[in-house]
Amino acid sequence: MEPEVIRDKEAMRKWSRTIRSQNKTIGLVPTMGYLHEGHLSLVRQSLTLADVTVVSIYVNPGQFSPTEDLSTYPSDFSGDLSKLAALSGAKVVVFNPKNLYDYNEGERKKKINGGGEKKVVSCVEEGGLGHETWIRVERLEKGLCGKSRPAFFRGVATIVTKLFNIVEPDFAVFGKKDYQQWRIIQRMVRDLDFGIEIVGLDIAREKDGLAMSSRNVRLSDEERQRALSISKSLAMAKASVTEGKTNSAELRDMIIQEVVGAAGRIDYVEIVDQESLEGVEEIKSGVVICVAAWFGTVRLIDNIEINVSL
Ligand code: PAJ
Repeated sequence: MEPEVIRDKEAMRKWSRTIRSQNKTIGLVPTMGYLHEGHLSLVRQSLTLADVTVVSIYVNPGQFSPTEDLSTYPSDFSGDLSKLAALSGAKVVVFNPKNLYDYNEGERKKKINGGGEKKVVSCVEEGGLGHETWIRVERLEKGLCGKSRPAFFRGVATIVTKLFNIVEPDFAVFGKKDYQQWRIIQRMVRDLDFGIEIVGLDIAREKDGLAMSSRNVRLSDEERQRALSISKSLAMAKASVTEGKTNSAELRDMIIQEVVGAAGRIDYVEIVDQESLEGVEEIKSGVVICVAAWFGTVRLIDNIEINVSL
C-alpha cells in the first residue's frame, strides 16, 4: 500500500496531533528524497521504535549555497513512494511540503518588488520571502563540512527544527553517514530542550563499500570506480589503527595519498573526537575519521568510527 502523502504543514500538524491523542508515538525520518537503502534503513529503524513514521521528502533550499547543486539535486517522487510502500506503507506517512520558507508573503513582496516573482533559491539570498530566523550550533558547525560550506549547517539545523515543530515526533532517526549533521542535531536537541530522542544509524554501503548517497547517480562509471578509494582508504586506516599505528598525521597522509592517487580532489581528511568533533593527534578509541572529496562535479563524504580499546 502506498503511503499517504501530506503536502500542507497545517494538515501535517493536525495529523500528528490526532495520532498523539490516540496515545501513539511518532518517528520522523527527514530526507531530501531520491531514497536509497540508506534512507530505508532509517525508516525501518523508526518503524521498530514508533507506532507510525513520518518520512519527510523536502529538498531544503536553506542548506544550499547559490553555487551548489540545488537545481540538479536528483528526485524521483513516485519511485520513493513505491520503495516506502514495499516497507510498511500503512505505518508510513510522507510529508512533502512545497516551500517551507513561504509565509504567504509572496503577494506583498511582489508588490514591493514591482511584480517580479521571487523564489527562495538558497540560504544566502537576501530576505528570501521573509525568512530571517536561523539556528546555529556554533562550535560543532565550524569544522569539517562547515569549513567549505559555511551556511550549510544553519540551513540543516533550521529546517530540522521546522520539521520538529510541524511533525512533533517522539523519535527522529539520522544516518551517521552525515556524521557532523547527526552530532549537530543531537546537540541542538539537548541545548534547546526538544523532547525528541535522536537516533543515529550506521552507514549503509554498496557491496563494493561505496557509502550510499543520492548523489552517487551523478558519478560516471569511471568516477564511481575511482570514488571507491574513499571507503577503501578508511578501511585501511582502521586496520592500521588496530595494528598499532596511532599517529593521526601519518594516517591522514595515507588516506590523502589513496584518494589523490585515484584523482579525487580532497576537501578534508580529519581525525576527530566523536562528540566534540575536535582534531586529535594520537588515535584512541572514540574517534571518527572523516573524509570529503570531489570526483568530477560530485562531492562525496564518508567516515569510519574507531571504537576499539587500544
Ligand atoms: P539526505 O541526504 O536525503 O539524507 C537523509 C538521511 O539519510 C540523513 O539522516 C542521512 O544521514 C541519511 N543517510 C544518507 N545516506 C545514508 C547512508 N548511506 N547510510 C545511512 N544513512 C544515510 O541529510 C539530509 O538529507 C538533509 O540534510 C536533511 C537532514 C533531510 C535536512 O534537509
